[in-house]
Amino acid sequence: MPDTITLTDDRTGKTVTVPITDGVFPSSAIRQLDPNLFVYDPAFLSTAACRSEITYLDGDAGVLRYRGYPIEQLAEQSTYLEVAYLILYGELPTAEQLQKWTYEVTHHTFIHENMRKRFVDGFHYDAHPMGMFISSLAALGTFYPEAKNIFEPESRHKQILRLIAKAPTLAAMCYRFSVGLPFFLPDNSLSYPANFLTMMWRIGEYEVHPVLERAMDVLFILHADHEQNCGTTAMRVVGSSQADPYSAAAAAASALYGPLHGGANEQVVRMLTDIGSIENVPAFVDSVKAGKGRLMGFGHRVYKNYDPRARIIKQTAEEVFEVTGKNPLLDIALKLEETALSDPYFVDRKLYPNVDFYSGLIYQAMGFPVDMFTVLFAIPRMSGWLAHWDELLGDKDQKISRPRQWYTGVDERDYVAIGDR
Ligand code: CMC
Repeated sequence: MPDTITLTDDRTGKTVTVPITDGVFPSSAIRQLDPNLFVYDPAFLSTAACRSEITYLDGDAGVLRYRGYPIEQLAEQSTYLEVAYLILYGELPTAEQLQKWTYEVTHHTFIHENMRKRFVDGFHYDAHPMGMFISSLAALGTFYPEAKNIFEPESRHKQILRLIAKAPTLAAMCYRFSVGLPFFLPDNSLSYPANFLTMMWRIGEYEVHPVLERAMDVLFILHADHEQNCGTTAMRVVGSSQADPYSAAAAAASALYGPLHGGANEQVVRMLTDIGSIENVPAFVDSVKAGKGRLMGFGHRVYKNYDPRARIIKQTAEEVFEVTGKNPLLDIALKLEETALSDPYFVDRKLYPNVDFYSGLIYQAMGFPVDMFTVLFAIPRMSGWLAHWDELLGDKDQKISRPRQWYTGVDERDYVAIGDR
């Protein structure tokens, strides 16, 4: 079978034959055929907008790999900071590289005092932590004017370090503000997840439980990257205008906030709470099938088999519940999963639990309020966003993102004076 596709424009008789590489068809063929012809592809269902070497997904087989390494191996054997290095620089670090990287990240965790005193203190007492986190990312950029020098490797590296290091500090700051607790400064003697948990919870005495520290790290690994999802695409689109990475990361975090994306973990817990008990599960599933809302934490644009992250998370949940006690919503979640997975509506549409189905239950058992869940997703996704931003800036195929549209509005008409309308 030839690995080419031949297109014929029946209007002109013009024919173009193009090679298919790795299942990808170059859109330049369309431009060759007719430069004024556009592909209508809402939500980019059939569009690969970039080449990328970072993350590989096979949705039918339920495969996820960062730089070639299976997510299962990374979740079992690695740490989030090592994975962040891998995602950003393409290889697992040597012991020396890891030590340097960990030292550098750890020594960029503090934020300018004015970030908290002048900026965060301006929020209303009940501001949603994710709204605060998004704005804090953009505000943070104003402290580093050199961040605009995105083509200077040293400056770029510095901003990457700062964003990865300060994301947990900003997140904890947003939480503590929202509950009226004094800010707790980073402790550079702790690991990345332990430092975050300490900044979140420390009031007087507090020691991180090693199982919860590891669980946090595993959750960070699982959320570090997921190729061209809505948030990462926002990062690339804003980055393509050569904006600084703080502004681009704020855009990516905004995209993540939505309930169909990273906001789903919050919605899952709200949904399980509304269901209330196992007996109500069948009626709830029936209402979803009747078109009354969606089963949150189910379905994925790419995974049509099983989200491999969901499997790992389920195991992490068991380990966490050993320490914290079982989340009472777990039984409802298990019943919901069992009911949906044996129902033709969900089976036929290939709807399986995704990463968000169980993550919220863990976060809740660890004491995080529901409003913080998407912030917990954003902290580790920072490394993925930055890796894609960095890749984009070095990609000669890329230009400013600027899709075309299919105009369906009214044709030209004359202005009508206000009294004549
Ligand atoms: N519950 C019930 N029905 C669903 C669901 C769901 N969660 N997801 C998809 N469907 C149905 C949908 O109604 C449609 O049915 P029909 O063919 O009869 O019209 C069919 O399945 C295909 O759905 P789609 O909307 O075309 O699928 P999509 O690829 O555009 O959407 C999704 C993917 C993740 C947005 C969607 O599955 C969804 O809304 N899920 C719930 C929200 C969620 O859990 N999001 C987290 C995603 S994973 C982490 C992340 O990316 O942040």
